[in-house]
This record gives sequence, structure tokens and C-alpha cells, in this order.
Amino acid sequence: MKASKRSSVIGSFKVMDILEKARGLEAKGRSIIHFEVGEPDFKTPRVISQAGIEAIRSGYTKYTHSLGMPELRVEICRHYRREYGVKITPDQIIVANGSSAGLFLIFAALLDPGDSVIMGTPHYSCYPNYVKFLGARTSFVKQSEKEGFQLLPDNVRKKIRPRTKAILINSPSNPTGSVMKPEFIKEISGLGPVVISDEIYHGLSYKRKARSILEFSRKAFVLSGFSKRYAMTGWRIGWVIAPKEFVRPMQKVQQNFQISPNSIAQMAGITALKSGKAELNAMKREFNNRRKLMIELLREIGFEILFEPEGAFYVFASCRFMSGDSYSLAFRILEEAGVAVTPGIDFGKAGEGYLRFSYATAPKNIREGVRRLDEFIRKNDFKK
Ligand SMILES: Cc1ncc(COP(=O)(O)O)c(C=O)c1O
Repeated sequence: MKASKRSSVIGSFKVMDILEKARGLEAKGRSIIHFEVGEPDFKTPRVISQAGIEAIRSGYTKYTHSLGMPELRVEICRHYRREYGVKITPDQIIVANGSSAGLFLIFAALLDPGDSVIMGTPHYSCYPNYVKFLGARTSFVKQSEKEGFQLLPDNVRKKIRPRTKAILINSPSNPTGSVMKPEFIKEISGLGPVVISDEIYHGLSYKRKARSILEFSRKAFVLSGFSKRYAMTGWRIGWVIAPKEFVRPMQKVQQNFQISPNSIAQMAGITALKSGKAELNAMKREFNNRRKLMIELLREIGFEILFEPEGAFYVFASCRFMSGDSYSLAFRILEEAGVAVTPGIDFGKAGEGYLRFSYATAPKNIREGVRRLDEFIRKNDFKK
């Protein structure tokens, strides 16, 4: 039996290769420090978990409206009014089983075979796979460290072709932690193609507030959710805000392939938006302390970090003084030093020569992980 050609266009998620290897080593008794993970280490705030438990107790355990519970969609509208001063209506919102499922809805409603999507690189590993899976193409715009990993509008403009359907932006960014300059968001939103703005790391920016695409344009899709800002990765809940003409096509895809989003997670989501602000701020303060610590310690052991990340929970640092092959290097660091890191190549060719360090782990782990890395660097006599 043979798997489909369609499934073969999707590459593996390399961070999972590292994670699985790390788990294997741990099963054999090795101590591993985890800098590879892309999720908050905090527990979901109690008030939110309680709302989930209460949802089960009260019998909110059935399919919901395929667009998501009306109360949640109203709460999302209030959130945009409060946070960004923009007015949206519930009929523009579709709640999904994670922003991952939301991104599939967007692309499924938008792309025909042969269409093209422009995106920056380094980029979140999964983006090109959605596009390729649907028979469309990706066009990459390089974001360089010396430009603060910003997606430069002039470079985007040069890539626009007749079949360009959308421009995908992500701020704060995974993997670089850069936060887009508002003037760049504005310029990109005026280039012609619809903009898909992945705002999943909103709430976690430490220097300037991340701006929503909706502050600049209505010809846009917003992708966001609860996973990162409320430490709710396992609840699988997110949302899309779409131009109205796309809601029905997306709804049909959701009805057929998902039926509805998870009812319990939606109830928890309502509480997160209503009452999660204090917990979010506490997590954000802690992430910011860890961000500074990770940058400082990595610099001390020889990493040249030209751009200090401003959002999400990652430091994307050049490893060229050790090796230009980030994939092999990440495995060596794991095996020899007991530290799991994500190879930059996981984020596209422009990520090669970098490692991504997640600081979603306790400061004592950050100190110990960097100490082990220092030992590894010294033992191998890498020139700093
Ligand atoms: C940039 C980016 N977008 C989307 C997602 C998907 O998040 P979720 O499906 O948990 O909402 C992730 C997860 O790591 C991410 O880093």
C-alpha cells in the first residue's frame, strides 16, 4: 500500500525529531534541558481551568454552532475593541480547534491550485506545508538579522505576481521574536493582495505593543488564539477574523471537516478573555525576565546576538561559529551536552546557521542549559 502524493509534499517538523530523541535519552536516564519547546511551561491559569471544569459539570459537552459559541464570538469582539480600538462583529469570526485549524480554513477558502502566497523567511515551520498541501505555491522574502528580522515592504512588493493571492505576516514572530514596525504593516496592507496576519503571540511583546492588521486594513484575515497568551496549547482553541464574504466558505469547510470547535475549550476561552488579564500580565513579566537572562547568558558564552528579540518566547541566534549545519549541530548538542534546541533549518533555508532557544522554561533551567552549552563549546574549542 502506498501513501498519497498529496501527503508526501509535507516535510517533517524537525523540532519533533529533536523532541523525540530527547525523550528517548530521558527514558534512558539522561538529564535533558529543554530549549526546543514552543509552548509556555506555565499551567493554564486556575480561573480558566475552573471554567473548563465547570463547563463539563454543567453539560456543555455537545457540538456547538459551527462558527463557535455566540457568547465567545461576542467576547472576541469586545477584546478587539479594548486591545486595539477596532470594531468587529461576531459574523466575521470563526472559532477553530487551534489557530492551526484556523489557518487551514483560511487557506482552504482562499487558494486554488497554482495560486501563490508570499511569506517571510525564517518562518513558522508549518506555513508552507498548508500552501503546498492545497496545490498552491509559496514565495519567500528573506528577513535578515541585521534588519531586525523585519519583513521589508519593498522586498514583498518585488515578489507580487498575477497569481499572488495573499501575503502572510507573523508578529511577534516565531522563530525570531521580532515585532513588526507599524509602518511596515501599514505599507504591506496596501500592496494589493489580502494580508493574513498570524497574531498568535499577541500579548507577549516586551518593548512595544504588537499592532493588529485590523488597525490598518479590513482586507485581511486575522489568525489568533489562546494557546500562547493564556498557556492553553493543549485546549486546542483559536479564532479567525475574516472578510465577511469568506466566512460562509470557511464555515462549510469547518462543518464538513471539524463539525464544530471544542465546546469545553470555548467556555474556558470566554473566561480567559473576560478574566485572564492579570495572569497574562504575570506570565508576560516572567517571560520578559527570562528573555533578558537568556540573551545575557548566551552572549557571555560567545553567541553574537545582533538583534534582541522583542516578543514571543524565543531567541534566534547564529551558530555559525560552531557549524553552518544547524540540524546536525542540534543533534550533537543534544547528545553531547544534554540540551535540546531547535535547528534553524526547521524555519526554512534562511534559518540555516541559526538555533532557536525557547525561554519557556524556569530560570534555573536556562542557567543550567547555557552552562552545559558553554562546556560543549569549550570542549570542542569552537572559535568565538
Ligand atoms: C507562529 C505560530 N502560528 C500558529 C501556531 C499554532 O498554534 P495553535 O494551533 O496552538 O493555536 C503556532 C504554534 O507554535 C505558531 O508558533
